[in-house]
Amino acid sequence: MQLFGQKIFKPDNTESTNRLAMHLIEQENADNGLAIITDHQTAGIGYGSNLWESEPNKNLTVSYIYKPFQVPATAQFFLNKAVSLSLYDLISDLCPNQVVKIKWPNDVYVGEKKIAGILINNIISGHYISYSILGIGLNINQEKFGSRIPNPTSLKILNGIEYKVDEIFNSLCIALNKRFNSFIMNDYEKIDSDYLYNLFRMKESNYFLINDEKVEARIIDVDEYGRLILENDGINKVFAFKEVEYVI
Ligand code: BTN
Repeated sequence: MQLFGQKIFKPDNTESTNRLAMHLIEQENADNGLAIITDHQTAGIGYGSNLWESEPNKNLTVSYIYKPFQVPATAQFFLNKAVSLSLYDLISDLCPNQVVKIKWPNDVYVGEKKIAGILINNIISGHYISYSILGIGLNINQEKFGSRIPNPTSLKILNGIEYKVDEIFNSLCIALNKRFNSFIMNDYEKIDSDYLYNLFRMKESNYFLINDEKVEARIIDVDEYGRLILENDGINKVFAFKEVEYVI
C-alpha cells in the first residue's frame, strides 16, 4: 500500500507544517496520506514547549496527515512507534556503520547525538483517533546549530556528503509505507519488539532526571500507553512523558 506521499502540498514557507496540517483538517481539506513539506519552516514546533529550528533549504520538515481506521485513542503510542521505526529504518540505511537508536519518547539518535525529532498531534472523536498529524524534522545538510539545541547532528556532519532533501523525503515515504503496513495489518507484535530492540540505552544502567533528581535506573519496557518502565534496585516504576528525562 502506498499511502504516504502520494499527494504532496509544498508551500515555499510556512510557520509550522503541523499547524498547516491542522488547518487543512479543520477546513476538511486533508486527504489521507497527504505530505505537507516546506523548505522554510519559520516557527517550527518541537516537543513540549520547545521550538524546532531548521535552516531554510537544508533539512526535512514534513507533516503527514493520517486517517486511521478504527484505531482506539488508547493505541496512540503505536503511531509514535511506527513513525520512530520508519525513521530508524531510513537513517540506518543512510548511516550503515553507525549506531542508530530510537530515544524515547520522540527522538532518533546516531551515537550520542540527535538527528531527528517527531511531533504527533492526534485528533480524537469519541474513543477513536479521527486524524493524526505525523510531524517529522530530520537534520540533513545543516552543519551549525544554535547553542540552545542539545547535542544535534545531521547526515552531512556524520557522512560528509551533501544530500538532496527531496530524495530523502521520497525514501522516508517508502519507509513509512512499509512500517504502517504492519500497523494496518495489526502486526503490533513486530512493531513492539522492533521498537524495544532499537531503543536507546534499553536495559543499560543510565542516569535519569526524575523530579529534578538524578536517579540511576534501567529501561526495561515501554507500556501500551507509551509510558517508560524503569527498574531501580529491583523495583519497577512507570513514568509518563515529561515525568522523566534521560541524562545524556
Ligand atoms: C522534537 O524533537 O522536539 C520534535 C520536533 C518535531 C519537528 C517537526 S518539523 C515538521 C513538523 N512541524 C513542526 O512544527 N514540528 C514538526
